[in-house]
Amino acid sequence: MIYSKVIGIGSFVPERVLTNDELCGIVDTSDEWITSRTGIKERRIAEKGLTTSDIAAEAAKKAIELSGLNPQDVELILAGTITPDMIFPSTSCIVQEKLGLKNAAAFDISAGCSGFIYSLSVADSFIKSGKYKNVLVIGADLLSRITDYTDRSTCVLFGDGGGAVVLTANTENTRGILSTHMHSEGGHDDILMLKGGGSLMPASLESVNSREHYIKMKGSELFRYAVNYLKAVAEEAIEFNNLKAEDIDLFVPHQANIRIIEATAKKLRFPMEKVFINVEKYGNTSSGSIPIALDEAYKSGRLKEGSLVLIDAIGAGLTWASSIIRW
Ligand code: ACO
Repeated sequence: MIYSKVIGIGSFVPERVLTNDELCGIVDTSDEWITSRTGIKERRIAEKGLTTSDIAAEAAKKAIELSGLNPQDVELILAGTITPDMIFPSTSCIVQEKLGLKNAAAFDISAGCSGFIYSLSVADSFIKSGKYKNVLVIGADLLSRITDYTDRSTCVLFGDGGGAVVLTANTENTRGILSTHMHSEGGHDDILMLKGGGSLMPASLESVNSREHYIKMKGSELFRYAVNYLKAVAEEAIEFNNLKAEDIDLFVPHQANIRIIEATAKKLRFPMEKVFINVEKYGNTSSGSIPIALDEAYKSGRLKEGSLVLIDAIGAGLTWASSIIRW
């Protein structure tokens, strides 16, 4: 049996902090509203000129250094992102060039906030099949670039950042990815989408004036899907591995909203001490959310060798996914 073992991890967030109090000067909101509805206190915003590939490359560089691999040994680069530097070439190819990963194939995966777990799942399949031994998996987004800072119902939620892991084939023991599960359900464009800039609505004066190049979201409808689907996909992972909720050492959910995290944990009967939370610092960074949280959990000692970690996420599509990793 081949397991995809995590041998390197890294993350990167821009320096600029945007606090709730600052947002009060931009839209009609309050720190009390944002904190009580979302748990978010601040988020990071990339300065002008910084791109998703810059953030992805910084995170990936740290992950590769920690892995001890020679950069030439990376055979595949997968980047989960919905805010690529440009429509093409892919952000993965740009990261390849920035880091000199000359022997890798590279492509992006678009799965909204599930982008990192989707990418992890594809990487795991390639490793299990024997096709590749060393894969770089990235989750990175600059949501500030597609956020409408005149829309108070969305602009308080999102931030910028990214993370990366290096996976390698492990045949010696059972450390690594034990399972991944992915789901999709099209037909929900009305609750979460960015319509402008694609083949349906190429950029035009009209599309810019009608603000179609920004995220549009119906938050309360999405909230209901999030809690139900995140619970279901977490249970699917636990049952698939013949585990019980109490066997999981750390639950690292998508950091979208503290109320979604708490409601999901409650449904799964996870005590909050076993749930990793950093949404207060970064808001929702989409594909960046899980790898940033995993990196912080690892660096703070909450993820140790042999720990059983459960991750899950939901995003635009809808897409939702989970994975259990023996760290
Ligand atoms: N400040 C003050 N008031 C606000 C704000 C704000 N920032 N935003 C909305 N309100 C108001 C609304 O106008 C509404 O007022 P009204 O009753 O007078 O019309 C009131 O607050 C309640 O609005 P709701 O949308 O019902 O608030 P809700 O309790 O649902 O919380 C929230 C909103 C935080 C967005 C929540 O629905 C949520 O977190 N949803 C999930 C979003 C999410 O997780 N998205 C992740 C996927 S994103 C991706 O894939 C890229």
